[in-house]
Amino acid sequence: MDKLIIEGGHRLEGEIEISGAKNAALPLMASTILAPGKHLLENVANLRDIDTMCELLEELGAKADRSKLDSGKILGIDTTGVQSKRAPYELVKTMRASILALGPLYARFGCAEVSFPGGCAIGARPVDLHLKGLEMLGAKVSVEHGYIYAQKQESHPSEITFDIVTVTGTENVMMAATLTPGKTVLLNCAQEPEVVDLAEYLLKMGAKIKGAGTDRIEITGVETLSPKSHRIMPDRIETGTYLVAGAITGGDLLLRNAHPNDLESVIAKLHEAGVRIEETGQGLRVWRDGKLRGVDVRTAPYPGFPTDMQAQMMALLSLVEGGVSMITETIFENRFLHALELQRMGANIKLEGNRALVTGVKKISGATVMATDLRASASLVLAGLAAENTTEVSRVYHLDRGYERMEEKLNAAGARIRRAKEL
Ligand code: EPZ
Repeated sequence: MDKLIIEGGHRLEGEIEISGAKNAALPLMASTILAPGKHLLENVANLRDIDTMCELLEELGAKADRSKLDSGKILGIDTTGVQSKRAPYELVKTMRASILALGPLYARFGCAEVSFPGGCAIGARPVDLHLKGLEMLGAKVSVEHGYIYAQKQESHPSEITFDIVTVTGTENVMMAATLTPGKTVLLNCAQEPEVVDLAEYLLKMGAKIKGAGTDRIEITGVETLSPKSHRIMPDRIETGTYLVAGAITGGDLLLRNAHPNDLESVIAKLHEAGVRIEETGQGLRVWRDGKLRGVDVRTAPYPGFPTDMQAQMMALLSLVEGGVSMITETIFENRFLHALELQRMGANIKLEGNRALVTGVKKISGATVMATDLRASASLVLAGLAAENTTEVSRVYHLDRGYERMEEKLNAAGARIRRAKEL
């Protein structure tokens, strides 16, 4: 396993290019199952999770062409040969987003077998709402020996209300409904920009969808869909992470290709804390011109403050000297693991249930810390950039799942990070 060794105290200055969104690429890749043929996805980040989704699609009989992924961010996926309807445990256990194969497999073949995704570090993360959605479209769903079995009994439209706002649940059921006869209405949908990006690709393939990006989505089923090409949206969580990197080091960064309108709640919160952020022709500029202030943060479904930015915000607020901030995590039940590691660096954080009271300190010191999940590892890297002396972040395979060449991008802006093997 790898670790990152970060020499703290360097202001970041210069430019960082934002890559394509992981959480848009994954459902888009799964959606290629719906339309047999050659799909072309552009602006695809080269990440471990993208590799895993390619492996899953190949396991199902598709062909993934990653030959232009590094040079041109282009991923070709040919789903002509998809025969298998089974997403195996070995792959699903490494990436929960594999559940996104369920809806497309069911829609194309009338049956699907997907290993039941276990929990993960940040919570139980059930998929009951995915399964309920398929049942309401006419599937018989059972869970046996750790696998989800969905079998088409009949196929009819439905009005489906999600009890909880679920991003991949909305995506899965929306994909399944594209080939279900009649008009299906989904209520209490996730409104994330990644859901909109997926819907835009489905529309290109010939699906009939209205309302993506709102809490009410209408899908009128069609006979078949045809393969197309699509440019994936920039990664708004990567953008938010580097906005914090600029703020926490007191630097001045230009984030190229960033889409500010996908990130309004994060930008508003950073403004409230005293961070300067400006839209320029090439992207987003972030800098500081004075003391920061403590702010309260409450995560919520889009357009609220994204849970995927909570850990990064905690790192920044830990260093707002004299500032007091209350962070409330409303989406996942165990998403404060990074707080324990930040405390080891000297942060003053009191945890109580789903709330964390952060009292900013003047400085934190480098330490050996351990990453537990994707965004927690980003938070620890951010803290290391600002800490005194050296910070070692272990288990950075978490980071590699969702951040393309993070240390390379940060070092090009003045950071001092090197990757080493953990002994
Ligand atoms: C997506 O996960 C993202 N992943 C997550 O990003 C993100 O944190 C999350 O949405 C919330 O924004 C991808 O898009 C690939 P949910 P997802 O279903 O869809 C409960 C990252 O760091 N729930 O919106 O799995 C669930 O337990 C990752 O990039 C049910 O109870 O999250 C949670 O409390 C981490 N039953 C809440 O809903 C269900 O059937 C929201 O989960 C489904 C969800």
